[in-house]
Amino acid sequence: MASRPLISAFLLLLLIGSVIHSSAAFHPIIRLPTERETATDSSSHGDDDDDGGLYCASWHLASEINNAGGWTQIPSRCLSYVKYYMTGKRYESDCEVIGNFSLAFASTVEMAPDGKDAWVFDIDEALLTNLPYYMDHGFGSEVFNESCWDEWVASAKAPAIPSSLKLYNALKQMGFKIFVLTGRSEHQRQDTSKNLELAGYTDWEGLILRGASDGGIPATVYKSERRSVLLNGGYRIHGSSGDQWSDLLGFAVAKRSFKLPNPMYYIG
Ligand SMILES: *[C@@H]1O[C@H](CO)[C@@H](O)[C@H](O)[C@H]1NC(C)=O
Ligand SMILES: *[C@@H]1O[C@H](CO)[C@@H](O)[C@H](O)[C@H]1NC(C)=O
Repeated sequence: MASRPLISAFLLLLLIGSVIHSSAAFHPIIRLPTERETATDSSSHGDDDDDGGLYCASWHLASEINNAGGWTQIPSRCLSYVKYYMTGKRYESDCEVIGNFSLAFASTVEMAPDGKDAWVFDIDEALLTNLPYYMDHGFGSEVFNESCWDEWVASAKAPAIPSSLKLYNALKQMGFKIFVLTGRSEHQRQDTSKNLELAGYTDWEGLILRGASDGGIPATVYKSERRSVLLNGGYRIHGSSGDQWSDLLGFAVAKRSFKLPNPMYYIG
């Protein structure tokens, strides 16, 4: 059994320890954690150099919120960042959070009995994920190859983004009319609707593709014009979901737009 002096000495040590500890807590200079301390799994998968992950996470954010402007390929140093983001749990989680916000907004909409309450979805990286294609094509680090891409579209093998399928079905059940508005071409209609159905999407009100006359029109203009047609047809576009700002901006915009993540390619 410990003697009284020993216990007192122990208590004194504890006291000194807590004084040192609390004086450290009152240090006037705010110390930012070092990069290594904050390094998460994703940032450590960013690149070979130490700040690659940090840079790529910042580049990704700038790109998602449209600060980066147009780009044709991901920065080459960000290949492993994008690969890790897309194939790890983060992409799925980001999509799910957006799907939940979308649904929360949708449930505030007062549906009219005229059946004209609408929601617009883009397809690629919005309803469907082309991750299997991009896994074979460097996650956006390769220059876009149209003939390869067309082969992939014809295969009709793109899976659904699970949270988008959930949102789609919930909106349908709530009575929204769903319009699918894509930059894919009219000649890809059959393969596209086949792919949507295989992935679980059914009962859309309209599937709108780029016609021959939409040839050289920028995506923002083409999509705005098609949304205008819907508005002129008496539809109220409450929500719009897309992975590109060109899916969402322009005119005849939805009351709420939901930007899904896509660090692999940019469409202006
Ligand atoms: C999204 O909502 C569902 C249903 O309310 C919930 O189970 C899930 O945890 C939410 N997901 C996220 C990432 O918040
Ligand atoms: C695009 O891919 C096809 C194969 O699908 C290939 O034959 C062609 O050379 C590629 N084009 C370029 C510019 O890399």
